[in-house]
Amino acid sequence: MATKKLVVFGLGARGLIYANFAKTYPDKFELIAIIENNPERVAKAKNEFNAKVFTDYKDFLAEKIPADIVAVATQDEDHKEHAISMMKAGYDLLLEKPIANNLEDCLAIYNASIEYNRKVIICHVLRYTPFYSTVKRIIDSGKLGEVITIHASENVGYYHQAHSFIRGPWRNKAQSSPMILAKCCHDMDIIRYLMGEECVSVSSYGDLFYFNKEHAPEGATQYCSDCPKKDCVFKAQTIYLSELGRPFSAYFTTKEQTDENVLAELKGSQYDKCVFQNDNDVVDHQVTIMQFAKGKTACHTMTAFSKLIYRDLKVHGTKAELVGVVEDNFIEIRYFGGEVEKINVDISMANVGGHAGGDFFMMNAIYKDLNGEKADGVTYLDVSIESHLMSFGAEESRLKGGKPTLIKKG
Ligand SMILES: NC(=O)c1ccc[n+]([C@@H]2O[C@H](COP(=O)([O-])OP(=O)(O)OC[C@H]3O[C@@H](n4cnc5c(N)ncnc54)[C@H](O)[C@@H]3O)[C@@H](O)[C@H]2O)c1
Repeated sequence: MATKKLVVFGLGARGLIYANFAKTYPDKFELIAIIENNPERVAKAKNEFNAKVFTDYKDFLAEKIPADIVAVATQDEDHKEHAISMMKAGYDLLLEKPIANNLEDCLAIYNASIEYNRKVIICHVLRYTPFYSTVKRIIDSGKLGEVITIHASENVGYYHQAHSFIRGPWRNKAQSSPMILAKCCHDMDIIRYLMGEECVSVSSYGDLFYFNKEHAPEGATQYCSDCPKKDCVFKAQTIYLSELGRPFSAYFTTKEQTDENVLAELKGSQYDKCVFQNDNDVVDHQVTIMQFAKGKTACHTMTAFSKLIYRDLKVHGTKAELVGVVEDNFIEIRYFGGEVEKINVDISMANVGGHAGGDFFMMNAIYKDLNGEKADGVTYLDVSIESHLMSFGAEESRLKGGKPTLIKKG
């Protein structure tokens, strides 16, 4: 297969994964350009990658450089402008999820993809994980019989909720998007993918129950660095110095992540704020119930209240049920009146990116797709948009106390 020319637009956390994939597998992708406007990241782009670097995407467009795919990995609110400008110039896209943070912009991008006849692959990484690919293969094999119900949970992790959805960029609906979109559009996509049918209606309930002033411990101060509540598990200093939380400190410091640097840069920042006294308004728990075209059903629970970050899944068919936990690579099939089959899921090959192997296998699938080969998991915007319609529909339902919202693509 031929090497494909890749452009990375936004060399942040996500863009780096694509750039590093190309660096690791130069036979698959040639990283020809990076578009990045943050001076430190521009320096990183120049030091670490052998690609032409642009600080303004309009300069990149002016050069009309031929490329097979542009990975748009800027922030959600910029996707509309960046994605449409690239498509208008004739580039196909790997577009980070969410497509955009409101329905109007999602539809504008979708309509532009039709108008300019561009291929847009949404970065729904879960589809490509060995875990979900295996589940999909099992469903397609008929081992479970006909799938009737799916139950999935997304356990966000208390420290991840604190970082991303209370202190960080996705804490406030008006500034970013509802939790069900920002965090769970992956899950809506995977449920729809596994069910193999269009979702026709959603109902949803949820709330910001815990992370508000009502639950602030007595005497808690606005910034954790001044707070006398030393044993609070949400204390910013505890989270950002812990093994699990330290990688998140990249959101407030570009310095080496030593204890001294992390503590100094954290003090007085947005990320030092008390989780009970912030301007967050996204939910900390939400349940979404879905009905599919032929009357099948699914249920998804998002909760902040878990020790670790993990997703679990149950697929109930007419012959067997499948039970699994993504991060444990655990899958078993429980046959009715029969044995329990344990399935081995191997992610040892995935040496670039994260998401339980999803980033690595997604890049491999895109490489195949761009070469005209059948690539499991790859779908385009016409299908990916459904997960976003489900998410916006769920939010609308939640705000109306669970009233069902019909999902219509047209
Ligand atoms: N697929 C997933 O599972 C997943 C996971 C996390 C984040 N995301 C999404 O990926 C996207 C990027 O997230 P991130 O965490 O990498 O963000 P980030 O802020 O780390 O990276 C964005 C980068 O874009 C650059 N940028 C912004 N505007 C620019 C412009 N006009 N010109 C050039 N460069 C510009 C920024 O300087 C930054 O380096 C977001 O949409 C986010 O929601 C997806």
